Amino acid sequence: MRPETAPYDRNNPIGNTGIVTSPPLALGAGPPYQAGMRLLFLGDVMGRAGRTAVSEHLPRLRDEWKLDFVVVNGENCTNGMGLSGDHARLLLQAGADCLTLGDHAFDQKDMMQAIEREPRIIRPINYAKAAPGKGFRLFDAPGGRKVLVIQVLGQVFMKRAFDDPFSAIEPVLKAHPLGGLAQAVIVDMHCEATSEKMAMGHFCDGRASLVVGTHTHVPTADAQVLPGGTGYLTDAGMCGDYNSVIGMDKAEPMRRFVTGMGKERFSPAKGPATLSGVFVETDDRSGKAVDLRMIRIGGRLEQAAP
Ligand SMILES: [Fe+2]
Ligand SMILES: [Fe+2]
Repeated sequence: MRPETAPYDRNNPIGNTGIVTSPPLALGAGPPYQAGMRLLFLGDVMGRAGRTAVSEHLPRLRDEWKLDFVVVNGENCTNGMGLSGDHARLLLQAGADCLTLGDHAFDQKDMMQAIEREPRIIRPINYAKAAPGKGFRLFDAPGGRKVLVIQVLGQVFMKRAFDDPFSAIEPVLKAHPLGGLAQAVIVDMHCEATSEKMAMGHFCDGRASLVVGTHTHVPTADAQVLPGGTGYLTDAGMCGDYNSVIGMDKAEPMRRFVTGMGKERFSPAKGPATLSGVFVETDDRSGKAVDLRMIRIGGRLEQAAP
């Protein structure tokens, strides 16, 4: 649960004392800022079904849940493979502050240019030395606060050999101390293996507000605040149709599993999508997580809200 803390002072974002001496500051229009941030992370948006769910729900959730910062993983947004510039705009217009990608980062060729023009899109920091775009960015958040977002790829069971994620992320964490330069740090750990994701969670514990896994498209049930204060979830799950095989229309994947022979291309399943991810509340003074909730909105999964 959230500890009692001082109201957030927008003129002194990292100097709050923690002593409650006055009622919350009146800051005019919009929600009153408290002593922490309300962050939402949504997992891999899968095709049209996922896009539609983000467009339908996110503008309302941003308002209702008084969100300060929203990260959406868009690596499967365009026909299940990559993210086009047009679809990136759509997710940003729906209320995302930052889009992360993954191993499918550049499946849509126009992302090579789009990521250079749109700094709110982040690709994995260890994708390739020559890849366009950046693997992390320090974003502005309400009240003069700063949110660092980093995406990193794991190595275990991935189709391509990527560089060591731990040594890739270390200098970025060091350069942006939590509760100092950044009031929140969000790490998107994109990989297959639950073990590698958990190791990354502990590696960042105390240095990130949230370490959340993406890529497997199935939400795990282990949301927790680690001992050092980092919110952690092994996989956010996808924003897609769960009557599918990880978001793809189930006929072709089933044919390949059952007969060993493919016949058609994969295409995203078209049924109503479940928005899936994690909600985190942070403390501005430390940047650590004080509350963490799994999110499932719409579609066929059991619903969960903060
Ligand atoms: Fe992926
Ligand atoms: Fe994915």
